[in-house]
Amino acid sequence: MLKRLHLWVLAAACALASLLVIPGAVASSAGRASAPPTPRFDGSVHLGVTSCAGPCHGRQSASGLIEGAAVRGSELAAWQDPFSPRGAHARAYASLRTPLGRAIGANLGMADPALEPACLSCHADAAQARGPAFQISDGVGCEACHGGAGERWIASHYGGEASYPANVADGLYPTADLQSRARLCLSCHLGAAAQDQFVSHRIMGAGHPRISFELELFTALQAHHVEDERYFADKPQETRAKAWAIGQAVAAAQTLELFLQRAQGESVFPELVFYDCRSCHRPIEDHPDAQSRPLWTPNPGRPNGPGTVAFNDAHLIILSAAVAAFAPPHAAELRQKTYALHRAVLESREQAQAAARALLAAVREATLALESGDYRRETVERALREVLGDALAPRYTAYAAAEQAVMAADSLHRTLVDLGGLSQARSQALAPHVAAAYAAVEDPNRYNQAEFRARLSRLGRELGVL
Ligand code: HEC
Ligand code: HEC
Ligand code: HEC
Ligand code: HEC
Repeated sequence: MLKRLHLWVLAAACALASLLVIPGAVASSAGRASAPPTPRFDGSVHLGVTSCAGPCHGRQSASGLIEGAAVRGSELAAWQDPFSPRGAHARAYASLRTPLGRAIGANLGMADPALEPACLSCHADAAQARGPAFQISDGVGCEACHGGAGERWIASHYGGEASYPANVADGLYPTADLQSRARLCLSCHLGAAAQDQFVSHRIMGAGHPRISFELELFTALQAHHVEDERYFADKPQETRAKAWAIGQAVAAAQTLELFLQRAQGESVFPELVFYDCRSCHRPIEDHPDAQSRPLWTPNPGRPNGPGTVAFNDAHLIILSAAVAAFAPPHAAELRQKTYALHRAVLESREQAQAAARALLAAVREATLALESGDYRRETVERALREVLGDALAPRYTAYAAAEQAVMAADSLHRTLVDLGGLSQARSQALAPHVAAAYAAVEDPNRYNQAEFRARLSRLGRELGVL
């Protein structure tokens, strides 16, 4: 799955190779503690995808700007591209009625998952207020991310005369701001506070695919717009590395918030999606020879001994790499509090909740520091060294962490190209090593940490950071 996604990004990167990202040109919302409510809950009236189509966003190709227009106009065509992950949001509703969608529904006792809030919350635009032309079957439509078009911003937006900040002040959702974007994407690609917007272990057990997310990579994969000089006239110009770092920080925070809200679960057992899948999902070795090759691997980031269930720390591990590179004063505290959470999970629910709250506060502080972090060639190389080297690799015992490590290496190495620290030609030559790292996490059931680490080190040496 991941390998397939990576190939799409390579294709997109070649097409956009001429665009250079210069960091820090415009300040973003640095310092803001929380993002606005997602468009689903902001009370705005959603008019439906057809209201965004027409001459403004409904052109068939991005072949240049129309005289006087602010955008290419091909956003609708890109959003519903049937051939790539870019069109996934337009297909999200239809997925509920594929054989897999129906089977998941049937396992949960649902007659038709396309009528269930527990599925529509992420596979469509479950806006509270809807106009007469709104159609739920449009899937994750424009307004699910940009905000309801029945609102104040539309008048000035339509004429193209208002600036982006003015539109945002009038209710357009700030998708260009990284923290706000991360909260939005993760509300579906991880889960949100809303009761129905969550893939529980029960839904997983019914056959739902595992969900994993990395903000920079997934933003590139779903891009339905062109980033040119005009685009950056009134939008922040951020590095890919910063999108990656903020994405990890928000994902870690959201995991902890969800844990605090839903740890309880539906029975004597806690909600299992918060734990390392591999704690339970791995082969059991009964054979006497097993003594000479035990399957358990120690993890220096956790106090857990063999046979225990560990908290799923994938985002926390990768966040520690981002913090080490871009907000180093926060590294030690984050490490200590992550370790303390693992220990508390082995003690009691109350202690786990207290430790999660303490860690959440530390993650939020680190997020603010990452907002104003220093994203240049040397620090990006430092982040790569953290992700690929021996500092973190012993902690990649779980597949979910390994998967995040590969996506990190991919996004960070593309940042180096943007910043001029790696030539296009060299990046192309490295492509097989990036692909090899992706291949090592292609199948969760065959994940082998030693082999994975070998591929990461190889990539690090080729990149010249190890
Ligand atoms: C918290 C949000 C969320 C909820 C709730 C949710 N899903 Fe999903 N679903 C996703 C995401 C995100 C993906 C894509 C995973 C990926 O590829 O990264 C997905 C993928 C799928 C797919 C596979 C689509 C494909 O073709 O690859 C099916 C089928 C599916 N979901 C069905 C359901 C059903 C049925 C329900 C309700 C029981 C449901 N989902 C509830 C977020 C959600
Ligand atoms: C999954 C969320 C999502 C959906 C669905 C979505 N967008 Fe976007 N859109 C984004 C993000 C993220 C960006 C890039 C950040 C930004 O420019 O705000 C973006 C950028 C854009 C831009 C570029 C703006 C500029 O300044 O050039 C346009 C135009 C746009 N989207 C229109 C649409 C339209 C029309 C639809 C529906 C057909 C749509 N979007 C669906 C998230 C989404
Ligand atoms: C309202 C819920 C929702 C929001 C918000 C959302 N997504 Fe999605 N996204 C989905 C679902 C559901 C799928 C799976 C669609 C399918 O295949 O059925 C998906 C699929 C994708 C895919 C394709 C993944 C694959 O495996 O092919 C990408 C890329 C993606 N989303 C990126 C983003 C980004 C970036 C954002 C934020 C700007 C975002 N999404 C916001 C629900 C959402
Ligand atoms: C504490 C143990 C535990 C953890 C942690 C755990 N699971 Fe499970 N999982 C189970 C049990 C028990 C079942 C039910 C097995 C059965 O139905 O026979 C199950 C079933 C499943 C199934 C259905 C498999 C099948 O063949 O029917 C999926 C898929 C699944 N889990 C995914 C996950 C994912 C993904 C994670 C990590 C986010 C995870 N699980 C974490 C214990 C766990």
